[in-house]
Amino acid sequence: MPLFPWDDKLITRHPNIDSDHKKLVDLVNQLFDAMQSGKGKEACGRVLNELIQYTKTHFAMEERLMASHQYARTAEHKAEHAKLLKEVGDFKVKFDAGSLTVTASLLSFLRDWLINHISKSDKALAEAIGSH
Ligand code: FE2
Repeated sequence: MPLFPWDDKLITRHPNIDSDHKKLVDLVNQLFDAMQSGKGKEACGRVLNELIQYTKTHFAMEERLMASHQYARTAEHKAEHAKLLKEVGDFKVKFDAGSLTVTASLLSFLRDWLINHISKSDKALAEAIGSH
């Protein structure tokens, strides 16, 4: 059972955004698997890196869409992205230093953040740019 089964309630109806979100959900589940199977720091670190890199690429893609559509709520949406990247970046520094490991509470935080952000901010974005 994955930590975070895909739920069609998360569909924004923007195909590129939705395919990226499915990949992000998959990476959160992969990180959960790596943690649960006790594969250790190296395996967790690889998935964590991939998750962070993919998140950055995905946020940049959404932010390009906001710019090209002159999306009205760009500033607040970008601020949510920046806050998440800061939090995950701070975690990564501690993970690399060996003072923190991947835990169930980190994974729940990532899952809940994604559900909340997609349901509110990304759906609003997809609706606004879809109506242009
Ligand atoms: Fe977003």
